[in-house]
Amino acid sequence: MDIVLATRNKKKVEEIRRITAGLCINILSLDDHPHCPEVVEDRDTFEGNALKKALETASCTGKPSLADDSGLEVEALGGAPGVHSARYAADAASGNDPKNYEKLLADLVLVPRENRAARFVCCMALAYPDGESLTFFGYAKGSITLAPRGKQGFGYDPVFIPEGYKVTFAEMEGQDKDRLSHRGKALEKLADYLRSAA
Ligand code: IMP
Repeated sequence: MDIVLATRNKKKVEEIRRITAGLCINILSLDDHPHCPEVVEDRDTFEGNALKKALETASCTGKPSLADDSGLEVEALGGAPGVHSARYAADAASGNDPKNYEKLLADLVLVPRENRAARFVCCMALAYPDGESLTFFGYAKGSITLAPRGKQGFGYDPVFIPEGYKVTFAEMEGQDKDRLSHRGKALEKLADYLRSAA
């Protein structure tokens, strides 16, 4: 079965291909459907954005589509940056990872180590061209470092230490992050569903 990922983010496509490698699905992306527009993420929840992207992409491609919306929630900031994670530093800086995590570290400068709890959230939405849809959630709990560390991954990985570890996501190999990550956990639930529906 073909599933179109509602993204042109190559790192995300690579990560999702790696996690779903054991399943009988062929992962395509919006690069394989260049006429389909990038969907604007203007909803105020992860689920709202993921469903919007998956439904619009399924309708444009005529194929089952998978979209994720994810972000970081920091307890001391009342859940920010949340759905605004990609453009936390400024709209103009959207997707600029160092600007975003430097702003986060600056916002937390007075917050001691023990109060820097955070979690990554991922909502995966699977939508069919007839409008049917399902959602799957995954969470990764951890804390925010005092300074960035590591070169792997993307986004806030250099400032996030998963619970029970001493290294950041950016100091881990991809496969090790997948086992702990919010996206890995949401995709595991999706994989269970696809296996049971096969
Ligand atoms: P989106 O789901 O593509 O809208 O991603 C939202 C933003 O959340 C990304 O731009 C990253 O800044 C952040 N984010 C989501 N998942 C991760 C992750 O696994 N590591 C680091 N940052 C992430």
